[in-house]
Amino acid sequence: MTRSSEPLVLGIETSCDETGVGIVRGTTLLADAVASSVDQHARFGGVVPEVASRAHLEAMVPTIERACESAGIVVSDVDAVAVTYGPGLAGALLVGVASAKALALSLGKPLHAVNHLAAHVAVDQLEHGPLPEPCVALLVSGGHSSLLRVEDVTSDVQPLGATIDDAAGEAFDKVARLLGLPFPGGPHIDRSAVSGNSLAIDFPRGLTSRRDLERHRFDFSFSGLKTAVARWVEARERGGEPVPVSDVAASFQEAVCDVLVRKALDAAQCEGIEDLLIGGGVAANSRLRAMAEERASRLGIRVRVPRPGLCTDNGAMVAALGAEVVRRGRAPSRLDVSADSSLPVTSVLG
Ligand code: KG4
Ligand code: ZN
Repeated sequence: MTRSSEPLVLGIETSCDETGVGIVRGTTLLADAVASSVDQHARFGGVVPEVASRAHLEAMVPTIERACESAGIVVSDVDAVAVTYGPGLAGALLVGVASAKALALSLGKPLHAVNHLAAHVAVDQLEHGPLPEPCVALLVSGGHSSLLRVEDVTSDVQPLGATIDDAAGEAFDKVARLLGLPFPGGPHIDRSAVSGNSLAIDFPRGLTSRRDLERHRFDFSFSGLKTAVARWVEARERGGEPVPVSDVAASFQEAVCDVLVRKALDAAQCEGIEDLLIGGGVAANSRLRAMAEERASRLGIRVRVPRPGLCTDNGAMVAALGAEVVRRGRAPSRLDVSADSSLPVTSVLG
């Protein structure tokens, strides 16, 4: 049972193509309503910002209503409104921020503008209880690939590294397209890889050579890997041979997961931290989860990964961080807070 003394927070997420509205009380999830415009982007092979913004506008009110209904509350019950104010697509973020301001103002409740990346970390509380702090967080999605040191998820998040080109999910999506798999490609590669041989092709591991490690120890690069897969597939096609989709998917997936896990564990050891949290859409990948757990346990590092539905973008993660912000007594945001598409991870609250 939830304690009514804990804050009831409604969170709004619109940084990419998911209109998410979550409602939590403290660390208890009451509702997680998501309307995705992913189908409208499929034929373009990637998210089209203008299409995403319009879809957010249409979905916002019905999604808020759906969340309240499934949480069994009326919107005036909420103690605070939280919203993602960056990073993400500018127009998409604007819809969420404007909606949250309107809601907070009309209800006379505080507004908490929160960083999308920190919200990906905070969401784990809804499933596994209080966050281990400090922890190292590996956030991997279609829009970001970052390694963070999280001292306090509401105030002190430091970047350790990030991708210098494509995000991990973007690499999954582009390689899937090469293999003729639908968008978004991650889940399809994951499924196809199950019947493939991950040792079939030795694809490159970006930024892992000794020289690269000197400058980019905790950074990622996936564009070379994507190109290597493209060259390999083209060579097969030129030779008139069939492309072994499952083997390519499994070998590619192994290369991505190997680098992500290797660098995340190196970061944890370097920082002297025993808890690794993995979030973002790519954290739903079955090989990534298994590999991280297996290698971490050998080093005495604990791994926490939220269930797949909480890894991909959603409103519950924003509400989870909002509730933590309220619980830790942080000041609300001003009503003139603005969306920031390139918000740095160090700006946790607006
Ligand atoms: O976090 P998310 O929903 O949205 C962004 O902020 O991008 O992540 C979506 C990304 C897509 O690139 C998708 O292909 C990838 O997460 N993804 C996966 C899996 N499920 C989703 N990648 C690999 N394996 C999966 N099972
Ligand atoms: Zn995200």
